Amino acid sequence: MIPTHPHMMQNFDYMTPTRLIFGRESILQLPEVMAPLGRRVLLAYGGGSIKKIGLYDRVRELLADFEISELSDIQPNPKYNPSVLDGVRICKERQIDVILAVGGGSVLDCSKAIAVGAKYDGDPWDLITYKAQARAALPIVDILTLAATGSEYDCGCVISRTETNDKVGYMEPLTFPVASILDPVYTFSVSRKQTAAGCADAMNHVMEQYFTADTTLLNDGICESALRSLMENGRKCLDHPDDYDARAEMMLCCTYGCNGILSLGNSYSGWPCHAIEHALSAYYDITHGEGLAIITPRWMRHILSERTLDRFVKYGVNVFGIDAALDKEEIAQRAIDATYRFFESMGIPMHLREVGINDSRIGEMAHHIAVNEGLENAYVPLSENDIRDILTASL
Ligand code: NZQ
Ligand code: ZN
Repeated sequence: MIPTHPHMMQNFDYMTPTRLIFGRESILQLPEVMAPLGRRVLLAYGGGSIKKIGLYDRVRELLADFEISELSDIQPNPKYNPSVLDGVRICKERQIDVILAVGGGSVLDCSKAIAVGAKYDGDPWDLITYKAQARAALPIVDILTLAATGSEYDCGCVISRTETNDKVGYMEPLTFPVASILDPVYTFSVSRKQTAAGCADAMNHVMEQYFTADTTLLNDGICESALRSLMENGRKCLDHPDDYDARAEMMLCCTYGCNGILSLGNSYSGWPCHAIEHALSAYYDITHGEGLAIITPRWMRHILSERTLDRFVKYGVNVFGIDAALDKEEIAQRAIDATYRFFESMGIPMHLREVGINDSRIGEMAHHIAVNEGLENAYVPLSENDIRDILTASL
């Protein structure tokens, strides 16, 4: 356990072992990356986008010498049953050596859960809920096709269990991918909806690390720059889906999102918007980035106070270029408005009702979040009532 210290730079113990292979035609390195990991491969993918863009055929060609089993149809908000359970069964039956995940965050996350489940004798849910500690995992290689989650560079996965309305985040260092192949060209075909949602997700990953009590000038600068880059390149990706440089910079910004590099030495933030959104997509199966875009400005308005004012002023001045000479409260309000307007300008629905969520289960979700997510230690602690107010304001 690393000790924490109030009001000073925090200790940390950091490692990201994942090899990033970035750029046009980086897929050519796939056989060389896979060879030392074994010949029996589980090829995991989603609903078929990789076939439409020719990536599936390319992978099969490059891995002609490997013995390939497949797990397809992994859904957004990947499901424990059937996807994780099917994957674990295939890995055990066919004695798979390595998982190749080809797709977006959902395919990668599902593959991570399979990787630990395949090396465990009991119910894999025990691992995902930390009732049992993973001791081993199959190695994972991925080819990313959607810039958003940062799953390609972190050891987290988020798995949904429909029957209990659970969407559980699981962090396990054994699930860092061995290598991530990142060719921005494979993201040209991502729809407007998913491009905007991916941009909002990555922006929120940065904000979840930026809005905290103690930060450094170094981290603040990287975060502010990442936010400006995501807004500028996100918009370019919508206007010109095949703009290589825009897709490339967006991809790299997203990759930095979740492995902690943006907050080394910062105090704990609690990732409150993610805690709240995960319940929304657990109960209603909505798109993660859209849920975040809806929650973020309401959460900001809820936590704005004398204590947090200076953070919002810094954010407004350095990210949106708001005049530093204005009254502080005015800067903060304008910064929150600008956040909302940016998401709206990307075509994201900005009300829960627009994504099919009404007030009927708000109380139940607020309770679920308060009990399961532990937001009492967040940057601004959130009680069940606070969470209910944020959800209600988002309707
Ligand atoms: O299933 P296919 O046919 O591949 O279509 C997918 C899916 O419908 C499509 N898509 C992906 N690449 C495409 C493409 N369509 C056209 N061209 C391409 N190149 O996009 C749709 C959404 O895919 P998904 O993988 O669900 O999106 P995303 O990457 O945003 O992942 C979202 C999931 O990741 C979790 C989220 O909660 C959600 O479950 N997260 C994972 C994190 C992590 N591991 O660190 C952190 C995040 O905060 C997040 O919670
Ligand atoms: Zn996210």
